[in-house]
Amino acid sequence: MIQVGVLLSGSGTNLQALIDACQGDFPARIAVVISNKEEAYGLERARAAGIPAIHVPHRGWGSRAAFEAKLSETLGEHGVQWVACAGFMRILSPAFLDQWPWRVLNIHPALLPSFPGMDGQGQALASGVRIAGASVHFVDSGTDTGPIVAQAATFVSPMDTRDDLVARILTMEHKLYPMCLRMAAEGRLQVKDGAAMVQLAHGEALLLLDPALLADPTQGA
Ligand code: GAR
Repeated sequence: MIQVGVLLSGSGTNLQALIDACQGDFPARIAVVISNKEEAYGLERARAAGIPAIHVPHRGWGSRAAFEAKLSETLGEHGVQWVACAGFMRILSPAFLDQWPWRVLNIHPALLPSFPGMDGQGQALASGVRIAGASVHFVDSGTDTGPIVAQAATFVSPMDTRDDLVARILTMEHKLYPMCLRMAAEGRLQVKDGAAMVQLAHGEALLLLDPALLADPTQGA
């Protein structure tokens, strides 16, 4: 059973998807949830599930290194082996990542390498693409540049508001992240020569599709 530490900054619906997955026959358990924001609803979700929920503010340490050292220390104290960023809105520096070599995953709301950084969904909408989605990737020292593990795709409608697209992508994220965490926990995920190598198990795929993407356009709405 792998111990996972989740880093987040916000509402934590991805955390909830991971918590729900861990209730079943799942090879990982969430050992601690850390938020840099005290008011993050994700901390409430963790507490409700009986998981230690810890606020580590990113300000007040004097340096990013000191903040990250506290993160690492807290993860270590809880026996964490893999780290899952789930809406964690801070960049992690090489010094932190060196302590967790290819052991940090992130979920990003875009089909990387398109639309890294802030507001991947808004960037997709503004660009006029007709396909959007989410990526789970290993974290490296760039912004959303690490080796991609798997992606999930959905459609973009010209009628979409940003909220519509955020919600549709989140639905896919909630399927994608538990699948990827299982791969990690079962030792089927690693980085080789800068690429993510995955041994797929039955029922898994490197690209999950929203069934609506496959709708027959001749059939109308
Ligand atoms: C998710 O859409 C996640 O992909 C995104 O933040 C949201 C968190 O939602 N992450 C990033 O943008 C990271 N750059 P949640 O708190 O409900 O899981």
